[in-house]
Amino acid sequence: MTAATPHVPAGTHLLVTGGAGFIGSCYVRDVLARRDGTRITVLDKLTYAGNEANLAPLLADAEQAARLVFVRGDIADPAVVGPLVAEVDAVLNFAAESHVDRSILDPEAFLRTGVIGVHVLLEAIRREAARAAAGERARAPRFLQVSTDEVYGSVESGHSLEGDRLEPRSPYSAAKAAGELLVQSYFVTYGLDVVMTRGSNTYGPYQHPEKLIPLFVTNAIDDLALPLYGDGMQRRDWLYVSDHAGAIDFVLRHGEPGAVYNVPGSQELPNRTVVERLLGQLEKPWSLVRRVEDRPGHDRRYAMNGDRLGALGWSNRVGFDEGIAATVDWFLANEAWWRAVKSGDWDAYYGRQYGARLAGSTEAL
Ligand code: NAD
Ligand code: DAU
Repeated sequence: MTAATPHVPAGTHLLVTGGAGFIGSCYVRDVLARRDGTRITVLDKLTYAGNEANLAPLLADAEQAARLVFVRGDIADPAVVGPLVAEVDAVLNFAAESHVDRSILDPEAFLRTGVIGVHVLLEAIRREAARAAAGERARAPRFLQVSTDEVYGSVESGHSLEGDRLEPRSPYSAAKAAGELLVQSYFVTYGLDVVMTRGSNTYGPYQHPEKLIPLFVTNAIDDLALPLYGDGMQRRDWLYVSDHAGAIDFVLRHGEPGAVYNVPGSQELPNRTVVERLLGQLEKPWSLVRRVEDRPGHDRRYAMNGDRLGALGWSNRVGFDEGIAATVDWFLANEAWWRAVKSGDWDAYYGRQYGARLAGSTEAL
């Protein structure tokens, strides 16, 4: 199979789980905008992180809206998942509890979605593989599992390769690693057509303000404190959201069955530098930054080697300068979106996560 003959052609029907979240909704918006006849069914539980407003731009476009179906439901519910998987040519699983800090406060939902949910999706695909073997459909859906660089654990030096040991260190990353192992087992044991991506730290429009960049941008707009964990010298590799979504689509179309692909941003920066950059763009002072108690088990650095994905034919398009400028501009222009997200349960979460930390904070020099 070459780039000219994709495993999943354009114009087919995709099931996108978690498609109302940050990266999933970008994927849906970008794929439907190609106007190539692709139909998408989004399955999303609409947890605190899911937001139908992330898909709202599509509803203003009749041609795109006609190719989108939204189903509210849980990937861990076989009665919901089975009929949806039976209709499609591929399943992309973005659905997850995605915030490390919340996994430290309360891990259970991470395991339910990240392990049981993945198992339910795989079982539905296994049934479709049996139907294909019985001649009831042409082929089983391809399954793409969206995973993360966090499965490698903290990488003190060098760059992780796809064959490296998985050494997750938080409940979030342990659930993601467990999900990956299940997917791999269904490839080996049942011969399902699966691929996996391990993306790095993603940022951009529509990201929930619990995460570093949108939290600090929106707090800074309101002149609120910016809670920097520990010395702020932890390093992350920043990947713009449309590049992450594009790489996932590229792997869906062209990835080798059973293969895992790292998706690095190739823009490694310490947190302090990221914060300096966004404050500079907002013309806000460093004095807003407070040094707070560190995240327990905080991974110091993530960094991946992207040669396998590069050899497949993908390269990112958006550098950090362009991406952070576009992101800050988007949050400045979309206050109604993030003020709505920072309402309801937000204050209770913020108090639990940051109340004592900020009370005991010191100046961040
Ligand atoms: P997000 O939290 O913004 O969105 C997750 C979506 O999944 C939400 O819409 C939520 O409602 C939905 N969801 C959660 N549990 C569900 C369930 N049981 N059934 C159906 N829907 C459910 O997350 P994100 O940042 O867009 O991340 C998407 C995926 O990418 C996740 O699998 C995450 O692990 C992975 N990832 C994220 C990053 C990042 O930096 N954000 C980097 C690498 C990988
Ligand atoms: O690396 C990929 C991962 O990136 C994804 O798998 C996760 O879903 C995604 O949430 C993200 O995880 P991180 O923990 O790296 O992202 P977060 O935005 O929570 O934190 C980024 C860095 O900033 C990290 O070193 C912790 C630090 N931080 C974060 C917050 C929210 C702070 O210093 N203060 C904060 O308030």
